[in-house]
Amino acid sequence: MPKIILTDKLNEKVVKILEKAGFEVKIAWDIPKEDLPKIIGEYDAIIVRSDTKVRGDLFDKAINLKVIGRAGVGLDNIDMETALARNIKVVNTPAATTNSVAELALTMVLSSTRDVVKGTCEIKSDPSRFKSMKKELFSSEIDGKTLGLIGTGRIGTSLAVKCKALGMKAIGYDAYVAENPVVEMKLSVDDVLKEADYISLHLPLNKETQHMIGRDVISKMKKGAVLINCARGGIVDEHAAHDALESGHLGYYCTDVFENEPPSSDNPLLHHENVIISPHIGAQTKEGNMRASIQAAERVVEAFKEL
Ligand code: 3PG
Repeated sequence: MPKIILTDKLNEKVVKILEKAGFEVKIAWDIPKEDLPKIIGEYDAIIVRSDTKVRGDLFDKAINLKVIGRAGVGLDNIDMETALARNIKVVNTPAATTNSVAELALTMVLSSTRDVVKGTCEIKSDPSRFKSMKKELFSSEIDGKTLGLIGTGRIGTSLAVKCKALGMKAIGYDAYVAENPVVEMKLSVDDVLKEADYISLHLPLNKETQHMIGRDVISKMKKGAVLINCARGGIVDEHAAHDALESGHLGYYCTDVFENEPPSSDNPLLHHENVIISPHIGAQTKEGNMRASIQAAERVVEAFKEL
């Protein structure tokens, strides 16, 4: 009977699926991550989200590991080169959380526009500011504005559909895709930056995208543009984003992700009023987590059949 360990919080349904397929299942989503190398050697398979880093010591000790399931999209927490070299299969669930992430990016579009976070913080700390904040929070509508997508895969396209339904125009650039049924595709990132009021990133983190959104790229955005990152922290140079907020060139930075998670308390983005933050919750919905959990379990079962 193959043994599988689940090290990040998944929907409980995975246990039934795996047990039915003949696995002995260990639920270990509360285990301190530093203890995993001590026990990983017993297991033939593991299912993770992004919190478990399947690299270094954990990989070295995983002497029986045959399959890694990632309940989610990003594979940047898994040492893919080592997995390939050791013939360990890696399966993920690329479409399971598309809608959840797109809905969060839409939340960023709307909340940056109407400054609801700033309003909440100010009024809670000083209710007498109610009337002055009403004057201060004089914003615009999103109707008629342009959404610029860097990356027009599943999530970018889903966000485009939602924003177009709200009256926005959707343009985008994707290094691998030239056409999209709902997005007006541009030939370069620069072509997107010069037109977009909101720029939303939908890219994986890899050597090509690391710090792709740096000073030069930000300087080509329209003054006051909103930058939305529900992808990966490392794609944006956080110091460049902070400096652009300080100078007023960037209107808002809305981020679900940081280069280092959790961010250190001296990260200047945490102290800037035009930064909206969520704690890597893009996929953190009941529906998204259920789809990702079930699909990851099913794919691990399939991968074992092919061994
Ligand atoms: C992903 O890559 O699927 C998202 O970043 C979500 O990661 P999570 O499952 O750890 O929340």
